[in-house]
Amino acid sequence: MTTHVGWGKIILLGEHAVVYGYPALAAALDRGVTIAPVPTPKGGPLRLDIPTWDLSVTAASTSDHPVARSLAAIADALDVGRPAVSLVGDAQIPPGAGLGSSAALAVAVARALLEHARRPLDPATVTTAASASEQLLHGRASGIDVAIAIAGGMGVFRRNTGLRRITIPHPLRVLVGPSGSPRSTAAMVERVAEATHAAPSDERLVELGGLTDTATAALLAGNLPALGTAMDRAHAILDGLGVSTPQLDALCEAARAAGAYGAKLTGAGGGGAVIAIAPREREGDVLAAWRSAGVEGFAARVG
Ligand code: PMV
Repeated sequence: MTTHVGWGKIILLGEHAVVYGYPALAAALDRGVTIAPVPTPKGGPLRLDIPTWDLSVTAASTSDHPVARSLAAIADALDVGRPAVSLVGDAQIPPGAGLGSSAALAVAVARALLEHARRPLDPATVTTAASASEQLLHGRASGIDVAIAIAGGMGVFRRNTGLRRITIPHPLRVLVGPSGSPRSTAAMVERVAEATHAAPSDERLVELGGLTDTATAALLAGNLPALGTAMDRAHAILDGLGVSTPQLDALCEAARAAGAYGAKLTGAGGGGAVIAIAPREREGDVLAAWRSAGVEGFAARVG
């Protein structure tokens, strides 16, 4: 029995703009969701159990539970029927925190079901199956979470060309602050659609796309202050689009005041997580500032 992984992720720059075709810079976290397929007696239901998330569901496309529907959607996309198997998982990222938990779960589930069916773990097949789940849960999803949950590492994602991996000279340390406030990606994507009239030419979306290019160049050159400046600007634009919250603003402000190069919300916003980049000797101050605000952050190595 093999354990299958889907990586959690952060979006460094470009969330929301990526839905409209602009590039986004994303990185896999050094943690995610792992799943092992455990065969059950013949005729048993297709189950998913993740004790860390208090999650226990049986695949059913008509269930009230979104994960039960998502499990059914993945099995249907893979055309494996309802095999008698328990998918037993562990998660090292919180659910619903903007860290790509649903895509990480979908990718790990798809891989585990393919193994159980003795089929190859072909990335294109895993992408199709995990995307069916993301579509169900999040509506108009760009595919960035699934791409990075499969590939790991770091890359620039575009909706029409997919993920282009980039290699940076040294792994990047990113401080991640899960705010603890729940949010809905679909609702935030809808809010941006209203704010921009879903027009890709909206100047805020254009600027967000440009900031991804600026940040990618800064990252490749090892220029962390420039990366931080781009992150600060991106947060201000996202705030203007209505997807920040007073709590996320305060966490970013606290990080900057504690010496971070820059900070922003990551993912859909409306809750979820913030990220910050800081000089190594100031990381402890940033994490302490978040702790005083009731948020237990962590440092992740990405890239
Ligand atoms: O899955 P989240 O909440 O980290 O957000 C994904 C990023 C968005 O650009 C807001 C949506 C998308 O599908 O690209």
